[in-house]
Amino acid sequence: MKRSEALELLKQHVTSDQLLRHSFAVEAAMIAYAKRFGEDEEKWGNLGLLHDIDFEKYPDEHPHHAPELLQGAGFDDEFVDSILSHGENMDVPRDLMERKCLHAVDEMASFIIAVALMRPTRFEGLKAKSVKKKMKDKRFAAAVDREELIASMEDMGMEFAEHVDIIVNGLMEHEALISQDGYSLLG
Ligand SMILES: [Fe+2]
Ligand SMILES: [Fe+2]
Repeated sequence: MKRSEALELLKQHVTSDQLLRHSFAVEAAMIAYAKRFGEDEEKWGNLGLLHDIDFEKYPDEHPHHAPELLQGAGFDDEFVDSILSHGENMDVPRDLMERKCLHAVDEMASFIIAVALMRPTRFEGLKAKSVKKKMKDKRFAAAVDREELIASMEDMGMEFAEHVDIIVNGLMEHEALISQDGYSLLG
C-alpha cells in the first residue's frame, strides 16, 4: 500500500494531532531503519504510520482492534501481526526485525522529539549524549520507561549512539517531507 493510502486510512480512525504526530514519528524511525537494514521502506513506514490506528477509538483495548480497522485494506497477516506485536502481553512474538524495531522506536522516537523541543535548534546537532542526559532526568517525560527503551534497543542488537543517530536523522528527513502537507513532528 502506498503511503498516501495508508495515511488516508489512518485519518479515518485518528483525529488527534498528537496521535498523528506520534504516528509520523514512528513512521520516520521505521523508514530510517528500513534504509539501514536494506528492508522494504514502504512496508516498514506503513507499520510505523498505522501501529496505533485503533488507539483513539479503543485506548483500553489497543492494539487488539487494529486487525478489524486494517481489514479490507489489503494487508497480509504478517503485517497485521507485526502491528499487534508492539503491544504488551500479545500472543505475537517479536521475532522479525520489523517487530523488534517497531517496539524499540515506538517510545524512543517520541522521547527524542521531546528532547528536541527543549533545544533552540531542535533536531539539528542533537546527539545521543543529550538524549542520555534527559533519560537520567527522572522528571523529564516521567511516564517513559527508560529500562524498556534500552531493553528494546538491545533486543535489536543496536547500541545507543547509533540508535539515536538513526532516529534523529530519520525524524529530520521526515519533518521536511510532512511539512509539505502542513504537518510537523514538533507540534
Ligand atoms: Fe501502541
Ligand atoms: Fe505508539
